[in-house]
Amino acid sequence: MSRFEGKGSSDYDVRIKKLIPGYQLLHQLTASYLKTTLKPNARILVVGAGTGSDILELSNIESSWSFTALDISSDMLDIAKNRFKEANIIGRVDFHTGDVGGLNVGDYDAAICLFVTHFIEGYDEKIKLLSEINAKLKSDAFLLLADLMQYQSEDIRLSQSTISQYLGLEIEAAEVMLGRLETDFYPLSESELAVVAKLSGYDEPLIYFQALRFSGFILSKLEVST
Ligand SMILES: C[S@@+](CC[C@H](N)C(=O)[O-])C[C@H]1O[C@@H](n2cnc3c(N)ncnc32)[C@H](O)[C@@H]1O
Repeated sequence: MSRFEGKGSSDYDVRIKKLIPGYQLLHQLTASYLKTTLKPNARILVVGAGTGSDILELSNIESSWSFTALDISSDMLDIAKNRFKEANIIGRVDFHTGDVGGLNVGDYDAAICLFVTHFIEGYDEKIKLLSEINAKLKSDAFLLLADLMQYQSEDIRLSQSTISQYLGLEIEAAEVMLGRLETDFYPLSESELAVVAKLSGYDEPLIYFQALRFSGFILSKLEVST
């Protein structure tokens, strides 16, 4: 069972706020950037929609947008569906359980992919996912990507444990988390991300969020020369 199924999905909303400093701020900044740059009635692809927090924030800031909530975990999407029903936005969301390659619609005005690609091992697999997202976007569209990036110092790595304890994580769980950051995550440096983005058809990433090494980037789709 993956970390996003069963108990891993039902615990997610409580757990994630202790693990990622600024989790809600990242969603708010993502919504703000989209509100600044997109027109009314925009269609947004949300890759790794999880339990729906991304879409709830976006739906709050602009009532005319519609969404595709895509995730490989049906348990996470089931929780999202219930939250969308409660928030009365279910009619604005299409659901897709599976990967981006299997999505048979395109022409999105923007995509977001928050805290997903750091779990993908290897350049080639990361490039595959980012290229598949690119293929679903309009020519002038962009992707907002948030991931854990490589640590630049041991003190910054240890501060991740300190802030998580400060946010309510038990000390033992914080130790486990530090271990998992080494074994379960595949973070890039900023320069590696720039290479991966270019090979996936995007311009140089621009940063719009950072909390320790959790970082958010704007990746504009590169124009295809004819
Ligand atoms: C850490 S959660 C992030 C959820 C949400 N974006 C948020 O900010 O709370 C990562 C999600 O990505 C999903 N996921 C992992 N790999 C994926 C892939 N290749 N395609 C789509 N979803 C994926 C997981 O099932 C999980 O729901």
